[in-house]
Amino acid sequence: MSDDLYQGQHRSSSAEFKLITNASLTPDMGVRPDDMKLLLTELNSLIHDQLEIHYVAFLESLTQLDEEATRKTFCDFSQTLDQHRLFEDTSILPLLIPGTDIDAAELARISGDHTIIERTLARVTNIVDAIFTAKNQRRTLVQQLSGLVRMQGLLEHHTERETQFFYPILDQTLSQNQKNSLAQSLREAIDQTPSGSE
Ligand SMILES: [Fe+2]
Ligand SMILES: [Fe+2]
Repeated sequence: MSDDLYQGQHRSSSAEFKLITNASLTPDMGVRPDDMKLLLTELNSLIHDQLEIHYVAFLESLTQLDEEATRKTFCDFSQTLDQHRLFEDTSILPLLIPGTDIDAAELARISGDHTIIERTLARVTNIVDAIFTAKNQRRTLVQQLSGLVRMQGLLEHHTERETQFFYPILDQTLSQNQKNSLAQSLREAIDQTPSGSE
């Protein structure tokens, strides 16, 4: 996977974030048809951008061995991740018919990613506990670096999969009413997401 591709296509600045979430997504506010076509894909990307920001803030605190800040930033990350994953599992994935709307194997890969991400989140929780209860915290941190980086790789991979192969199908397949309803829920999730640290 190319970082350039990922960054070029999916990153949104905070200015764009505000523009999209506050102004441009309701039909009665003059939204162009092109915007609506990419509605769910773009909203999903914004949530994933927030996840990445939260995980970086978490790693910054952790590598400073600041336990209070680490617990806070990890809580922000894990809550945002859990809520988004559960929403997709319960309210979005079931909307597509495997073999008709979407390749069955592709849908299974999205679901499988969620299972792996959930397992990895539990693993990172254990790593944080291990570091802050260790006698030599810095050494334990260094020993666990690969486990910490694994989450970033998983999310990057999953973001690309959803942005390339899943959300565009939703945008093309669902009725406008379904899309508006899902967009409302995704926007609420974005609004409730704690702001990331600078
Ligand atoms: Fe997602
Ligand atoms: Fe997902």
